Amino acid sequence: MSINQKIKPLTLNINSDGNLELGGCDLVELAQNYNTPLYVLDEQTIRSICCDYKDAFKNYPKVNMMYASKALCTEAVSALLASEGFGFDVVSAGEIYTVFKAGVDMSKVLFNGNNKSPEELTLALQLGVGRISVDNFFELSLLNEIALSHNKIVDILLRITPGIECHTHEYIQTGHLDSKFGFDLTQIDEAVELILEQYKNLRLHGLHAHIGSQIFETAIYADEIEILIKEIARLDEKFELKLDEINVGGGLGVKYTEKDLPPSPYDIAEKLITSLENNIEKYNIDSPTLFIEPGRSIISTAGVTLYTLGSAKQVPHGKKYVAVDGGMADNIRPSMYQAEYSAQIANKPLADCSETVTIAGRFCESGDILIKNIKLPEIEEGDILCVYNTGAYNYSMASNYNRVQKPAMVIVNNSNSDLIIKRESLDDLIANDIIPDRLKRV
Ligand code: LLP
Repeated sequence: MSINQKIKPLTLNINSDGNLELGGCDLVELAQNYNTPLYVLDEQTIRSICCDYKDAFKNYPKVNMMYASKALCTEAVSALLASEGFGFDVVSAGEIYTVFKAGVDMSKVLFNGNNKSPEELTLALQLGVGRISVDNFFELSLLNEIALSHNKIVDILLRITPGIECHTHEYIQTGHLDSKFGFDLTQIDEAVELILEQYKNLRLHGLHAHIGSQIFETAIYADEIEILIKEIARLDEKFELKLDEINVGGGLGVKYTEKDLPPSPYDIAEKLITSLENNIEKYNIDSPTLFIEPGRSIISTAGVTLYTLGSAKQVPHGKKYVAVDGGMADNIRPSMYQAEYSAQIANKPLADCSETVTIAGRFCESGDILIKNIKLPEIEEGDILCVYNTGAYNYSMASNYNRVQKPAMVIVNNSNSDLIIKRESLDDLIANDIIPDRLKRV
């Protein structure tokens, strides 16, 4: 079983003090030492899923694994994934800059996005980003202009909309026909003609698609491969154009609760490689380099968030609410996607789960509910709640709503904990504020 098929990180245990521990570190002590809310990442869990991905694809000779930074982008995480041999899918100047500062080989970076700004494209060129996945006609022309002014030839892929609908939350579906991302299949020829005839500073290597996120089906990956290969063969026939790269995006799901049954990287690899082999033969093309861009499945299970439980409220004839010291600003996913999570009390993981409670966030929104109706032991003020599977799209989507400081993040391994993101201070919160002179109070 791969780690994305489990709720809890690899090294999660109960120690001799009866507390949860991760990476050999007592989670109650981590909460005391670093304060809460606290994001904790387990290094071994990340390395374990990276190994599974590499092992799963080892029989296909040309694979570029690109970690989708949008799931969690920090310098330490980038350095760790680079040490595992991963490249990076980035979507903003901020992500480009972070991986650059982490010492990543920029030729292994691919820049995605449906509305990249001129400044971002320029930065990508200056820092030597290896591939740019061009999303639309406007960007084709803009990028060619910027490349020309820098006297560079830029290596690109074309992002296409394959017309595949996957069964996931509507907000995280991307491959269906009416999508804001990519060229429609009927627009590819025009884009290719422009590249071949006018945009001489763009060098096209292949096609890119991404169907969606938190995907549990495997068959759609086979369909996606067929669509991409069919297009490559068609473009060869029509333009005598030899494209040798296909990027199938990310999307593999994880297990947030017992109901979730995601496939493993091995299952996905099997589907992708079989479909590649069949379609290479069927459409008679040379085997292309395969890019994959997993985000969530690499980092989600490695992360837990620790909160301190505070006020509790029993609504007469209704729910029991227990409030944590964080919520929608450090984890927007329950309110945005109705996402469900699993959790335990770190200081009494073995106690009987005798209560059904709803975990409320501390932010000023009725919708700020982290977990509805979870079974937990009898709650006492000061208990430490450990919410599982918060490594992906939690910190990366965090905000300062209610002017609350973003939490710190630590990485644990072999009984060590290292701070990788400092907790924001009150001064950090006002660091960019400016009071115009006329409003200053003397
Ligand atoms: N490649 C592309 C082009 C993408 O748009 C994405 C995710 C990925 C790769 C990585 O997908 P993953 O392996 O992580 O599923 N905030 C949402 C997820 C949004 C995903 C956006 N694109 C959530 O919290 O569920």
